[in-house]
Amino acid sequence: MADETRISIDDTGALLGECHTIYLRRLGLDPRHPEFETDFEERPLSVINQLREYRGLLLSAIRHLQDNGVRVINPPDVLGIHSLKPWQLSRLAAAGVPVPETCSTNDPAEVRAFADRVENVIYKPIGGGGHAHHLESVDLDDDRLSRLANSPVQFQERIDGNDVRVFVVDGEVVAAARIVSDALDYRSERHDVERIGLESLDPEIERAACRAADQLGLPFTGVDVVNAADRFVVLEANPSPMFATFDELAGTNVAGELAGFLADP
Ligand SMILES: Nc1ncnc2c1ncn2[C@@H]1O[C@H](COP(=O)(O)OP(=O)(O)OP(=O)(O)O)[C@@H](O)[C@H]1O
Ligand SMILES: [Mg+2]
Repeated sequence: MADETRISIDDTGALLGECHTIYLRRLGLDPRHPEFETDFEERPLSVINQLREYRGLLLSAIRHLQDNGVRVINPPDVLGIHSLKPWQLSRLAAAGVPVPETCSTNDPAEVRAFADRVENVIYKPIGGGGHAHHLESVDLDDDRLSRLANSPVQFQERIDGNDVRVFVVDGEVVAAARIVSDALDYRSERHDVERIGLESLDPEIERAACRAADQLGLPFTGVDVVNAADRFVVLEANPSPMFATFDELAGTNVAGELAGFLADP
């Protein structure tokens, strides 16, 4: 594990003179990643401990650079909000950004009460990385709900509408597109991406996306919106959105806009 990377906080000295900005895509060093699979099977606890040490050093080096005036996009402390969806939603709601009614819980009674109150419900992971599914009546069985003891889940009002992805760079919307798919969660099947010209993007959605980026402290983000006939909601703002395939499919230039921002101190 150790021979592939060498990190030392002193090595950051060389970077200080020559770069004003770092683009931080992800920290990695996650024991669930495939590269650690074999080690993890053999000695899970020590892999977890080793990676914690690596992260500590890497994050210290990044913070050291920040302390010395290097701009890090996105800052390491906001990368983690990807898995804090309940917090994102409460923060956005408090700032007047429309979000779907949501109940993140491990309590069967709360789920039943939510399903009684809200007609159409989906559920998905709190930390992301899974697909959204409809909540069916069989999901409300004692046996099924007892599995919430394993981990909490995010239950959410289903909004029927178009999936729209809005990219924000430095407080401004730079690209938007509609994800064309019939699936509840578009990632469960092949999908097209249809560019929305910025002149025809609903100004309310534009404002909400910028507000979301601002409220969550994200200089660069891809905001997931569902646009229904009579309203829209923000689902989340991704702190490390992928954009290469998006640009390719939609004919947008997120890469260029981001590069321009990174290059300009
Ligand atoms: N409340 C909802 N109503 C309708 N569709 C939804 C709803 N929540 C999620 N979806 C569908 O599932 C997709 C993924 O949901 P979302 O972006 O909220 O979380 P996530 O993508 O699971 O998280 P991550 O991107 O971190 O893996 C959405 O883009 C949308 O297509
Ligand atoms: Mg998403």
